[in-house]
Amino acid sequence: MLSPKSVLITGCNRGLGLQFVQQFLNLTSPPKYLFACCRNPDGAKDLTELAKSNSCVKVLQLDVTKQETIDKAVEIVKSMVKDDGLNLLINNSAILDPANLEQTTRDKMRNAFEVNAIGPLMMAQTFLPLLRQAASQYPDKPMSCSKSAIINLSTGVASISENSSGKMYPHRSSKAALNMITSNLSIDLKSDGILCTAIHPGWVKTDMGGPNALISSEESLKGVLAVMEKLEGEEGSGKFYHGVRGNLIGW
Ligand SMILES: NC(=O)c1ccc[n+]([C@@H]2O[C@H](COP(=O)([O-])OP(=O)(O)OC[C@H]3O[C@@H](n4cnc5c(N)ncnc54)[C@H](OP(=O)(O)O)[C@@H]3O)[C@@H](O)[C@H]2O)c1
Repeated sequence: MLSPKSVLITGCNRGLGLQFVQQFLNLTSPPKYLFACCRNPDGAKDLTELAKSNSCVKVLQLDVTKQETIDKAVEIVKSMVKDDGLNLLINNSAILDPANLEQTTRDKMRNAFEVNAIGPLMMAQTFLPLLRQAASQYPDKPMSCSKSAIINLSTGVASISENSSGKMYPHRSSKAALNMITSNLSIDLKSDGILCTAIHPGWVKTDMGGPNALISSEESLKGVLAVMEKLEGEEGSGKFYHGVRGNLIGW
């Protein structure tokens, strides 16, 4: 059963981030602390409403490209979770720049890498002491999303082995970098008992996925949470999963 005591998710004001918050609240054992991060809490109406009716939801201001906001968030989280640490970090926020070869600029590449790859890496680095703390609470249990884990929301178009249609330079390459970061973290954090895996949520009807996408946020995350629930031990770490079909995707 997926039952982390504390979860932190980036990009919770809309799309899959908001849906993550809703689905964690609906778990049989909802988290004691659900840190829902967004860039602009004042404009996050739906999230603020959820926080009003669910005391476990703490809305935190966080922009993954601004280290000072990450540092501030980690202090708030630390003061609340105390010795329990943080069980689950979900790097959900991202941007999609589909620029083709002619349209791609240095700035477009830099922006995509800042948000989609460097941001999640710095989140993992900054929250590492709290993730380690959580893992140390259950030294005899195998790695899992309830014990201590980093889940990176990736995308099928980041797969190098499955790329057959080209284009989308900023998006494909920044998410492929996120995949390598995921794989690397899974190796570096194995001895700490921290699981790290990438999940593709399917083509989803959000602002990013657009209206022609195949599935709703609800359907997508039902699958993603089911995959997360099954991730266990070394077998579950350093992988790239299709969150809806439940199969592995080739890197
Ligand atoms: N939807 C799909 O079909 C699909 C397919 C494959 C993978 N994914 C992945 O699933 C995840 C969620 O996607 P989505 O469809 O929910 O996207 P979305 O609807 O476009 O939402 C993106 C979220 O990321 C936030 N964000 C953007 N830049 C940020 C920054 N610098 N710091 C913090 N937050 C930032 C946005 O906040 P603001 O409102 O402030 O901009 C928003 O909350 C992403 O990682 C995406 O790549 C989605």
